[in-house]
Amino acid sequence: MEYQNILFSVEDGIGMLTINRPKALNALNAATVAEMKDCVEKVAVNSDIKVLVITGSGDKSFVAGADIKEMATKNPAEGRAWGIFGQNVFTEIEKLPQPVIAAINGFALGGGCELSCACDFRYASENAKFGQPEVGLGITPGFGGTQRLTRVVGRGYAKELIYTGGMIDAQEAHRIGLVNKVVPQAELMDVVMKVAKKIAKNAPVAVQMSKAAINNGVNCDVVTGISYEAEVFGLCFATADQKEGMGAFVEKRKPAFTGK
Ligand code: CAA
Repeated sequence: MEYQNILFSVEDGIGMLTINRPKALNALNAATVAEMKDCVEKVAVNSDIKVLVITGSGDKSFVAGADIKEMATKNPAEGRAWGIFGQNVFTEIEKLPQPVIAAINGFALGGGCELSCACDFRYASENAKFGQPEVGLGITPGFGGTQRLTRVVGRGYAKELIYTGGMIDAQEAHRIGLVNKVVPQAELMDVVMKVAKKIAKNAPVAVQMSKAAINNGVNCDVVTGISYEAEVFGLCFATADQKEGMGAFVEKRKPAFTGK
């Protein structure tokens, strides 16, 4: 598939997916979400990619939400189908075996905030702004915002953001746990690449199993969650990287992981 609305590249095991509609502040229209789906499905089966970074083009916006101009004339059935389409793609992002980092370089509104919440964690530039403005447009959040934002920041802050439709700045997003780090915009990609490379140096299967255990665990009770953890913990002992990691420790050298 030829991409018109996103950019995708891979360097040193780090995939970079950039939403690239800067004139529309990277708003998500159907074509963009379809391209994201294609890209994410390719990342899922590419074991050369250890970490995926998602960001927006330009210095103003990560993603300013779903494309309002495209949504304006939808009827209820079309609105529901559009919501399910976006939800499914964001769930595919959440379920990617590799960790996904959102590098939030500006507005993360509506579907943009929801996209960031489908990522494993978020770093933001100082100019970033977050919000769920949907109720001001006469709709609810539709790409998972009522569910994932609540799980990231808790019910009180999620409800305040969603009911008011207001925006918060990067520092406030940091204070409520929506973003892990806030940095000057010029440094954002360097700081994100640094953490992505740190993750990419570790044993890939162990990183991916850790992600699966955390994500499966938040949707079930702790007893079920830790029994899943016991299974993935045990499975890691079947990998060459476990032998390499522990062997390197004993031999006082750096491990050379192969992802096997
Ligand atoms: N959809 C379509 N176009 C959008 C857009 C969106 N979500 N956000 C911005 N744009 C377009 C604007 O229409 C404008 O295009 P034109 O030049 O052709 O008029 C261009 O991007 C630049 O935007 P502004 O001139 O508005 O820029 P600004 O700096 O004055 O304001 C902003 C920035 C506050 C982000 C403002 O653009 C805005 O409020 N955007 C909409 C944000 C929003 O409501 N998002 C939620 C969408 S609903 C949703 O996401 C549902 C869901 O859960 C899936």
